[in-house]
Amino acid sequence: MEKVIEENKQGTSLVLEQKESNTKKLFIESYGCQMNFSDSEIVASILANEGYNTTQNLEEADLVLVNTCSIRDKAEQTVRNRLEQYNAVKKINPSMKVGVLGCMAERLKSKFLEEEKIVDMVVGPDAYKDLPNLLRDIDEGRDAINVILSKEETYGDISPVRLNSNGVTAFVSITRGCDNMCTFCVVPFTRGRERSRDPQSIIKEIKELHERGFKEITLLGQNVDSYLWYGGGLKKDFEKATEMQKATAVDFAQLLDMCATAFPKMRFRFSTSNPQDMHEEVMHVIAKHHNVCKYIHLPVQSGSTRILKEMNRQHTREEYMALVDKIKAIIPDIALSQDIIAGFPTETEEDHHDTLSLLEYVKYDFGYMFIYSERPGTLAARKLKDDVPEAVKKRRLQEIIDLQQKMGLERTKSYVGKTVEVLIEKESKRSDQHWAGRNSQNTTVVFPKGNYQAGDFVMVKINDCTSTTLIGEAVGYSEMQS
Ligand code: 5AD
Ligand code: SF4
Repeated sequence: MEKVIEENKQGTSLVLEQKESNTKKLFIESYGCQMNFSDSEIVASILANEGYNTTQNLEEADLVLVNTCSIRDKAEQTVRNRLEQYNAVKKINPSMKVGVLGCMAERLKSKFLEEEKIVDMVVGPDAYKDLPNLLRDIDEGRDAINVILSKEETYGDISPVRLNSNGVTAFVSITRGCDNMCTFCVVPFTRGRERSRDPQSIIKEIKELHERGFKEITLLGQNVDSYLWYGGGLKKDFEKATEMQKATAVDFAQLLDMCATAFPKMRFRFSTSNPQDMHEEVMHVIAKHHNVCKYIHLPVQSGSTRILKEMNRQHTREEYMALVDKIKAIIPDIALSQDIIAGFPTETEEDHHDTLSLLEYVKYDFGYMFIYSERPGTLAARKLKDDVPEAVKKRRLQEIIDLQQKMGLERTKSYVGKTVEVLIEKESKRSDQHWAGRNSQNTTVVFPKGNYQAGDFVMVKINDCTSTTLIGEAVGYSEMQS
């Protein structure tokens, strides 16, 4: 599994449009990947029908929910600190109820309720529709826990409210769970087996967003390239499908093509791609449609074939490089980003240098780089000793980050002097006189506002750059502007 975790979004509390008839107050906070932030929108929608409006003020909340992440130990520690803070507030306001949602709920199950007694409710990622019943259980003094993982649940029938939205870009989830079983990763245990969402419900959700003026959709899943709809059910059960189901199945290339064709004035992105599931048809769909962004997040984790094998990644260094060559041949203006783990058990200096040389070979536009964190229950934790000393892990990580920054600057410099298409998302963080948006390649672009508005597609001439940002001036609307 792979997911992008944006550090600046961690712990954001979410607020949605208020329903006047609702009298109770919900404080909901999210950690982890975009999938978790998306799930919190589903939870808020379900609870809006149970009398809850969201609040950003913890002290006035009747119900506090924290949507948690288990990917690294640090993520779990952050949430534990938050739970202590909630409990301090609870002492002042004893009627306040606290619930843990998401990946930690699944991983730690009843431990929170029984041993630690720090929460009132524990709800796993597939059980959010049970929240109304669980709230009743709390009221009636019963343990409120549901961590059952589902074969079917995709929340396809819930139209999520958009929390803290910029009104321009939105995420639409298309798959849940992961079947890859990378040995370092806790996700197959916390989010269960892989299943895909009905394409009709995906198109319906995008249509609603289109009608509300949204301009860019990111199709979301732990492994989007593995998307496969054949009438419902687990990906691994596809073999047992009927001939009719197989003949009418929809894969990711077809889904992306359907979306881009149905909504020519919207941009499409997707995340995350897994090298072993990324097929050539998807590359042709990306190349064919102007409105499919030329950007793939393609985590590699390590540049050493030996380590990749220990990680149970289904490809070698050479196969990954060949995949990158093919992507660049079919989509010459593609941008790529990576996830890399430094200091996986048994990693030698030679393995580490293989990672560095892979970075130089691919020339990623940017990346997300982490120190290995042993996760209880994973195959790596059971079979391999976490034997790379902390100081060595840190030094290797820094070398990877430094090289990535150098490569990133080379990539951003290559845009200087060129004119790129940008969808304006919001005001620049640094200046209220500038807009910020992204080009098709997912690099942030800032430029003076002029008479343009958020949601406009504009052409921007790039005059300058940092290693992550392009700086320019707008020269007119793009052909995407209707
Ligand atoms: N330790 C460190 N990083 C991890 N990731 C997943 N599991 C671990 C772990 N145990 C990283 C991977 C993944 C990203 C979302 O988090 O690089 O792609
Ligand atoms: Fe997302 Fe859960 Fe993975 Fe964290 S552990 S990145 S919340 S799927």
